[in-house]
Amino acid sequence: MYTILKKRNLAPEINAFIVNAPLIAERAQAGHFVMLRLTEQGERIPLTIADWDRQAGTIMLVCQTFGKTSGILNSLEAGDEILDLLGPLGTPIEVKKYGTVVLLGGGVGIPAILSKAKELKAAGNNVISIIGARCKELLILKEEMEEASHKLYLTTDDGSSGHKGFVTDVLAELMAEDRPDLVISVGPVPMMKATVSLTKARVVPCIVSLNPIMVDGTGMCGSCRVTVDGQTKFACVDGPSFFGEAVDFDELSSRQNFYRQEEALAREGEHKCQCGR
Ligand code: FAD
Ligand code: FES
Ligand code: MG
Repeated sequence: MYTILKKRNLAPEINAFIVNAPLIAERAQAGHFVMLRLTEQGERIPLTIADWDRQAGTIMLVCQTFGKTSGILNSLEAGDEILDLLGPLGTPIEVKKYGTVVLLGGGVGIPAILSKAKELKAAGNNVISIIGARCKELLILKEEMEEASHKLYLTTDDGSSGHKGFVTDVLAELMAEDRPDLVISVGPVPMMKATVSLTKARVVPCIVSLNPIMVDGTGMCGSCRVTVDGQTKFACVDGPSFFGEAVDFDELSSRQNFYRQEEALAREGEHKCQCGR
C-alpha cells in the first residue's frame, strides 16, 4: 500500500498527489512512469513520475480525470492508500549537455516535461520551455516549470493566458531565430506530430513521449505496441520516449481508440469484467 501524503488541486479535474514510495523515489529518472492499480478488480493505468524527493522518499503524480480509473484516483484524499504502484518503469531520457533544449508540454504532458527540464538544467543546458493548454485554468505547474527553465513561454488555445494559439507556434518563432540542439515534446498526438514536422524541416532531433494503452507496463502483453523506424517497439520498456521522426503517429492514434466502447461503459458503470473473477 502506498499512502497519499498530500493532494493539491491544480485545475478542474487535475490533481497532484505526493505519494510515499521510497524505493521508487530512490531510482526515479526523467522519463520514468509508474503503473498503478486502485482496487483488486481494477485495471492498471500508467502515470508519469512528474517529480520526486529522494530524501523524503516521495514521488509526485499528476492525474487528469479522463474516465473511470483516473476519476477514482482524483476522488482520493491525503491519507488514502493506492493499492499497487509499480515502478519506476520505462527507459529514461539521456540526460547530458546538449546545448539549448526546447521542451514543449501540452495539457497533462506538462508533468512529463517537468523532471526532464529540471534534470537537463542541472546538466548545464540552456532550457527553454513552452507549455500550453486549452485555457488559463488548465495551464498547470507554471511556477514549477518557471523554476526548472531559463525561459518559459505560455500558450492557450483561447488566448486567456500567454500566446493565443499552440505551443508549436512559439517553437516555430524560436526556430526562425535560432536552431536548438534538441527538442522534447510531450502532449496529445497531433501536438507531437506537429512538433516533429517543424523539427524535421530544420534537422533538429526531437524526442516525443508516446501514450499508447498500457496493460502490464513490463513488456509482456503487447498492448503498447508502436511502430518506430518500421520496427515494432513496446512503449512501456523501449520508451515511452522515442525520436519523433521515426514514429508512426497514425497507427498510434488508431490504436489509442481500440477500447472506446468499453471505456464509455466503464464510465457509466455498465462494463462487466469478463476475466472470470
Ligand atoms: P478510460 O475511460 O479508460 O480511457 C480514456 C482514454 O485514456 C483512452 O481512450 C485512452 O486514450 C487512455 N487510456 C485508457 N486506459 C489507458 C491505459 N491503460 N494506458 C494508457 N492510456 C490509457 N495521464 C495523466 O493524467 N497524467 C500523467 O502523468 C499521465 N502519464 C502517462 C504516461 C504514460 C507513459 C502513458 C502511456 C499515459 C499517461 N497518462 C497520464 C494517461 C493516463 O494513463 C490515462 O488518462 C488513463 O489511463 C485513463 O484511464 P481511465 O480509466 O480514467 O480512462
Ligand atoms: Fe504490456 Fe507494454 S503495456 S507490453
Ligand atoms: Mg479505464
